[in-house]
Amino acid sequence: MLATVNTATLSPLERAQALCADEMQQVDACIHDNLQSDIMMIPAIGHYIVNSGGKRFRPLLCLLVARLFGYRGGRHIPLAVVVEFIHTASLLHDDVVDSSTQRRGAPSANGVWGNQASVLVGDYLFSRAFQMMVADGDLAMLKLMADVTNALAEGEVLQLSRTFHLEMSEAECLEVIERKTAILFKAAAEVGAHVAGCSEAAVAALAEYGMCLGVSFQLMDDVLDYLASEQEAGKPVGHDLEEGKITLPLIHAMAQDARLRARVEAIAEREGQYLEGERDWIRARVTELGGIEFTMRKAEEYAARAKRVLGTYGDDEVRALLAELADFSARRPY
Ligand code: IPE
Ligand code: IPE
Ligand code: MG
Ligand code: MG
Repeated sequence: MLATVNTATLSPLERAQALCADEMQQVDACIHDNLQSDIMMIPAIGHYIVNSGGKRFRPLLCLLVARLFGYRGGRHIPLAVVVEFIHTASLLHDDVVDSSTQRRGAPSANGVWGNQASVLVGDYLFSRAFQMMVADGDLAMLKLMADVTNALAEGEVLQLSRTFHLEMSEAECLEVIERKTAILFKAAAEVGAHVAGCSEAAVAALAEYGMCLGVSFQLMDDVLDYLASEQEAGKPVGHDLEEGKITLPLIHAMAQDARLRARVEAIAEREGQYLEGERDWIRARVTELGGIEFTMRKAEEYAARAKRVLGTYGDDEVRALLAELADFSARRPY
């Protein structure tokens, strides 16, 4: 007997995946076609990372926005893959930069093949994404994604230059978030609206939706680093401080507790090394001092803004799902 899917129990992300299942299959096929290379290490690492259970949130956004405006063509498939390749490349590089050995509940690519291979295959994915955009042939898309990858790199470098910068302000923190993460969500939504041939105002509104959703998504990622278990997150937790990343939960908590700040200073002097039990102590203090609550509220504000800018554009049902996805990004458990 065929099992029927009870959509009421699915998360908005799962519902979006179900709604776009056919197109997502095309996205997956396109991903695999574009990982072909006679240099065996490229498909090996490429398949390892793309088959490791990522949420595919960004390509889904691209497909959903195209669907919002009733797009019937096929350009959104390779362009959604472009966005996922840029995301995947940035993760390959990010895990090297963050000395992270776990990703999506499994050893990260750098943990298996080493840092050099991860950096080089990340470069391969970036350049393959650009080859795919050239094949698409729309200079506007090339410009958009060139600007996005540039901003992404700037965001990562800006973050690096703020390593253990305990004076990090909320505004600086949001600037890093917009550049390193939100801009790719913005691009995903913008690409979907652009291929559908929307008005400039509609493209701009959807781009703003993607940007706000992306900020909310990264704020929750920063929350999960303090809140989730390693199993839930599928990657190391309590790791941001270890790597010198001063994120909003910690900024908010430190502002209220000199003892916590002194502990963080001591950790910074040890270049991120926790003493025994310190990781748990810090995580507990950040929660007790309201750092989680504060950051989640901020994430919800961004989600609310994302929903507002959706206005009355496009198909009602798809728009409702996009609105739920914005809420999901601010409350997600993973
Ligand atoms: C991880 O992104 C990097 C961030 C921007 C927080 P995702 O949480 O979307 O990663 P996957 O692709 O689902 O693993
Ligand atoms: C997002 O930041 C990384 C990129 C935008 C590449 P994080 O460093 O917080 O992402 P995770 O936590 O490793 O997934
Ligand atoms: Mg990281
Ligand atoms: Mg993180």
